[in-house]
This record gives sequence, structure tokens and C-alpha cells, in this order.
Amino acid sequence: MDVSAPVILKHPLVIPHRILMGPGPSNSSPRVLHAVGQTVLGHMHPEVFQAMDEIKEGIRYVFQTNNELTLAVSGAGHAGMEAVLSNLLERGDKVLVAISGIWGNRAADMARRYGAVAKEILTETENNFSLAQLEHAIQKEKPKLLFIVQGDSSTGVYQPLEGLGDICHRYNCLLAVDTVASLGGVPFYADRWKIDAVYTGSQKVLGSPPGLSPISFSPRAQKVIFERKTPVAVFYWDMTILGQQWNCFNNVRPYHHTVCSNLIFGLREGLAIIAEEGLEHVIKRHQECAQRLYKGLGSLGLELLVEEEHKRLPTVTTIVVPKDVDWKEVVGYAMRTYSVEISGGLGPTVGKVFRIGLMGYNATPERVDLVLKVLKEALEYARSARTAKL
Ligand code: GLV
Repeated sequence: MDVSAPVILKHPLVIPHRILMGPGPSNSSPRVLHAVGQTVLGHMHPEVFQAMDEIKEGIRYVFQTNNELTLAVSGAGHAGMEAVLSNLLERGDKVLVAISGIWGNRAADMARRYGAVAKEILTETENNFSLAQLEHAIQKEKPKLLFIVQGDSSTGVYQPLEGLGDICHRYNCLLAVDTVASLGGVPFYADRWKIDAVYTGSQKVLGSPPGLSPISFSPRAQKVIFERKTPVAVFYWDMTILGQQWNCFNNVRPYHHTVCSNLIFGLREGLAIIAEEGLEHVIKRHQECAQRLYKGLGSLGLELLVEEEHKRLPTVTTIVVPKDVDWKEVVGYAMRTYSVEISGGLGPTVGKVFRIGLMGYNATPERVDLVLKVLKEALEYARSARTAKL
């Protein structure tokens, strides 16, 4: 052999147990992990097709839609973002991207890579957009598509969407929404709110491992995709073929790519757990846990980045890093001592906030109390570490 077998691979794989209280992924339940650990099946086997059909029903439920073109793209949330933009945009098309954190920036970057003209509307890190601001920007830019994030995990800001679909359609604009961090933590009604494209991640409230991105397109968006002048720039995201593999159009199931059977099993179970609990209850549970967290953080004297409660995303809470601590000491202590993940900021919030996620299997009062206890201790540790250095 020109390259010898790596010695490192001769050591056993060791995976620690961790409690993921950051912005995602969240821990999967034992039931989901059991499903993921089943034998690998072929992507064209009837049992996998059956699970895919069941997933479609589950996705329609969590998105509250009857859209025909509903499936799960292979890839994490970014895959959903790529799929929405690459299917709805052609070279030279204009997209308006509402940027309130890192995800809008990502979407604008992707859209430009597909040759679209991306215009941006910005808001402050701790604020969302009013409908009037969005309408004004749509009127001015006349985009083909508005892209907006319902819950930005980098800032912890919640964006209300009611009424936005009507505004977009009045100006002949499609509406695409990222719900990766928000879905299941706040209400979402794709059909009622007239949303044309939506995607989420499997690894947050849906409670399965990262690797699949549920996605759905309205009939209006579907028509735009099927009437494109040019093929979708990336074969892997092409909904006209993926939709067939997922049997959205009740015809054949041609081979498009090798869907991971085990991720399918995990997502099927994640959706089943939500269906059994009931979406209303799931949302209520997340909101109650967020309230408990806010109360506990208040008792610790901590300040939240998003001051107005109705603008806060219940699934991801952003906490201002107190001036007398080094955020890395806090995060490091929590992981080292308790195997609990508390995250630092991301994008515009790097170094400014801690992010605590309450999602899916981890959205319980016990987990809230645990993360509060760990954070309290970690802050004490970071303060004493700082004093020792002075
Ligand atoms: C990922 O979704 C993150 O917010 O860090």
C-alpha cells in the first residue's frame, strides 16, 4: 500500500454522553435512536418507501399544509435553504432577503451563487421586522421572492408571519420561510399564512439526528418550479425529480439519490412522537419551558438580548454575557464538568451572548432546571477564574 492504515483507526471509537442545550442539534429520544440503529435498508425497498410516505404526512402536519410537493431533502437545514433558493430562483431573478441574523446572510450568499440578484433589508440584532417595513421593501424592490427566517438561532429573535403571505402575493412575490430553529416551538401555518416555500431541520424540535431537511412548496411555487426556463442549477436539489422519488405526484419513483434509510427511520419516529403528543401541546411545552428559563435567568441576575418577550424565540434564548465573565470559561466549564452544552453566540452575537436551546426531547422542566444550575455554577467559576488572573 502507498498509504498505510491509520493507527488512530485501530483505537476504539468512544462517544461521550452529552446533554445538548445549545441551539441544536438537540438530543434524540431513545425511541428515535433505536430507529436510527436498525439495519440499513436499500433506498428503493418498500419499507423505506413506506416510511418516506409516512414522513410526508408528518411533515404536512408539522407545517400545517396540504401541499403536494412535500418531502425531506438529504442534508441538514442548509440543504433546505439551498433547495428553496435553487428551485425558485433563476439567473437574474431578484430575491429580497430579510436579514436579522446569520441565516439571512447565508441565504443572500447562496442566492447570489445561483446567479440571482439578492437585495437585503436589515434589522437590529435584537429586533424583528414589522409588516410595514417588509411591504415597503417589497414595493421598492419588486422581487420574485421574499426570504425570511421565522426564528433566528443566532439572535433568539422571533419573526411573526401572519399577513405577510397576502402582502407578498399582492406584489406578485413568493414567500419563503426558514423554520429550522422555530418549528414546533411557535405556531406555524403554511397554508393559512399563504407561505410558498418552507423548510426546517430534523435535528431541533423534531428530535432526530441532523441530515434531513423537511421542505414543502405551495401549488404556486410548484408551478414556478415546473415552468422554469432553465433546469435547477443543482441536480441534487431538483424538486421536479426529487418530488418523484418521494412519490409526491403519484407516479413512478425513479432513482434520484441514495436516501439514508436510517435517517428516514429516525425522522419517521421523531414525527410520530410529535403526532402522538399533538402539535399544540408540543408548542405549549416549549413555551412553558422558555418561561421557566426566563424566570430562572432573571433570578441569576442575567439579562436577555431580546428585551420584549413577544419578540423572543422560545426554542433558543440569547443571554447577554455579563461584563465580568469570559464566555468561553462558562461554556467550557459546563461541558467539562456536566457534559452540558451551552453555546456562545453566532454571527452577529459572537462573544456577546450565551445561547440556550430548549428543543424536542430536551424541552422539559427538568432540563431547564439542570441548565440553570449548570449556568449558575459556571458563572461562579468564570468569575473566580477571572479574579484569580487579576
Ligand atoms: C445552528 O443552527 C446554530 O444556531 O448554531
